[in-house]
This record gives sequence, C-alpha cells and structure tokens, in this order.
Amino acid sequence: MAIFRDGLFFWGEMMNSEKLKETLSEALAEARVAPDIEGLEHVRIKYLGRKGLLPGVMKGLGGLPPAERGEMGKLANRLKTELGGLLDQRREELESGAMGNVSFDFTLPGAWHAAGTRHPIARVIEDAAAIFARLGFTVAQGPDVETAYRNFEALNTPDYHPSLDEQDTFWLESGDLLRTQTSPVQIRVMESTQPPIRVITPGRCYRRDTTDATHSASFHQIEGLYVDTRVSLADLKATMGYFAREMMGPGVGVRFRPHFFPFTEPSVECDFSCHVCAGKGCRVCKFSGWIEIAGAGMVDPRVFKKVGYDPTAVTGFAFGMGVERIAMVKYGIPDIRMLYDNDIRFLKQFA
Ligand code: DAH
Repeated sequence: MAIFRDGLFFWGEMMNSEKLKETLSEALAEARVAPDIEGLEHVRIKYLGRKGLLPGVMKGLGGLPPAERGEMGKLANRLKTELGGLLDQRREELESGAMGNVSFDFTLPGAWHAAGTRHPIARVIEDAAAIFARLGFTVAQGPDVETAYRNFEALNTPDYHPSLDEQDTFWLESGDLLRTQTSPVQIRVMESTQPPIRVITPGRCYRRDTTDATHSASFHQIEGLYVDTRVSLADLKATMGYFAREMMGPGVGVRFRPHFFPFTEPSVECDFSCHVCAGKGCRVCKFSGWIEIAGAGMVDPRVFKKVGYDPTAVTGFAFGMGVERIAMVKYGIPDIRMLYDNDIRFLKQFA
C-alpha cells in the first residue's frame, strides 16, 4: 500500500469511492459463500485484518482531498460494520448449523450404489412388448381385481365350468375375483374400442395352485388380441412364428395342436420348437423337441356378441402365454420359485 498525493492505492489499484463500493460488495459476497469457519477467517483477514484493506483505507484517508474524504470514510465504516456483522452472523450459523464443523474429505471414495438389473419377468414382458410393437400391437392393461363377468361369462365360460370353483379361483367377498387369466382385458379393450384392434395385455394372474417347481398362485401372462375383417388362423400362425423367432432365436418354429378354450373356436395349443436342441430332444423339451408356450385360437363369435361386435363383420385371433414359462425355458431356470425369491445372486445374472 502506498499513499500518493493524487490518490489512495491498494492491492495495486487506485481506490476511489466507486472502487471501494465494488470491493465492499465483493467482500460481502465472499463472506456469504465461505464454506467453513476457516474460509470466513480468510475473508476477515483480507478485509478487516491488521494488514488488510480497512486499516489501509483508514490510514490513507488523511491524504485525500477533503471532498473525497467524507465519502471514503463512510464507505470504510460500512465495510467495518456490514462486513463485520455478516462475518459474525455466518460464524454463528456455521458453528451451530449442520455444515459447520464438518470437514468433508473430498478425496475419500464415494458410496457405491450398484445399478439394478431387469428382473427376468420384466425382461420377458418388455421384450415381448417390443417384438409385438413391430407388428403394430400396442399394450393395454387391466386390473388384478376383476368381475366374474369379464373373467368368465363374457369369455363364454359357463358358470358350471370347473375354473369357477372355489378350489381354483380366489373369490373376494364382493363377488369379484383375482383374475385367473389376462383374457378379461380382451373384454375391456373390446368394450371400449372398435376394430381394428391389435393389443397385447401383459399382467399378473392368480390361481389357487399349490406352489411347486412349475406352479405359483401368482404368475404372469401375456394376452394378445387381433380383431379386424378377414383375420385368419394363418395370421395367428405367422404372428406366433415371428414372436417365437424374435424371442427364442432365429431357428425356432411353431406348431399348432387342436385344443379347447371356451372363448376361441377353433382353439389350439401353440408349441415352439426347442431352442436348445433345435428339436432333436433334450432335457429342456423333455426329449420331445417341442415346448408348450401358449393357448390360442380364433375369437368365438359368442365373445364378439357379448361386447357388441357383429360376428358376421369381424374376425380375430387371441392368444395367452405364461411369462414365467418363457423366462424359465429361455434362461434355463429350473424352478419357478427362483423368480420370486429376490435372491440378488440369482437376479444379477440378468443384466
Ligand atoms: N387364458 C388362457 C389360459 O389362461 C390362455 C389363452 C388361451 C388365452 C387361448 C387366449 C386364448 O387369449 O385365445 O389358459
């Protein structure tokens, strides 16, 4: 610091009242952002300390022209009281506050949060949605608690059918039930939209099954529904063939076996050729070369009538398949319970 006749110099710069005003606001800002007590002390020493700005300014005041002296004196006072006050206040805050005495070591390794993996069930559902999306199918969902009407009656399932039995279905006191299949979502979609329809409806289903290696009282299905004019069984077979190749591998084929479902006529069971042995026979396909994957068929005209469609104007196919079953054969999972155990060692294999 040096005092010249024509002005007051500090930190290599001439201090006039403009400059001092700026410096005051800088000082206040520095005091506000100082992260800890040590930082505050630096600010104090820099501006108010014995060799700091304030004593320098005070000393230099006498050498200034009287016109400037008053203004500079006032500013110097403000520096002392405003900055001094702020420093005291911040010190108190830091001492009592959460950040105060904590000294944080930025060189310590951080806490490791491992990224999760997709659950095989979610993975099959998402992959299926992507595959069917390429064929123009969108995804629809319905509630787990369903009416008996949509779960059975609208699907042409008479009330003497064994699946309505207490032994097979979780009935609620209200008369509703936990849906035994995703097929009631077909009804919901048709009740609320007009053809053409192309949807898949993945979701959770419930049956009074005793848990074993291949059964669970709660499981997942993916339902499909295609309604338009002139939809045929050939369209169903081509659709299932495309899905089989995309889901299980390019060499996989499909076959249909005659079957019965109340809501389709004709009905089929759809098998995929074994992706492990290419149909030669192995443990996965129980030496048959084929793996049973889905139930399917042409939507029964009675179902169309229930939802108010004209069965002479539209045709359609539907299918339903077990998500766990696909996951198990695709990834070689020997026991369905492994999918529900939440054992990280098992789950993290499905990145
Ligand atoms: N809902 C049937 C079941 O749970 C599967 C099924 C079969 C769904 C044929 C369909 C279908 O949509 O057309 O066993």
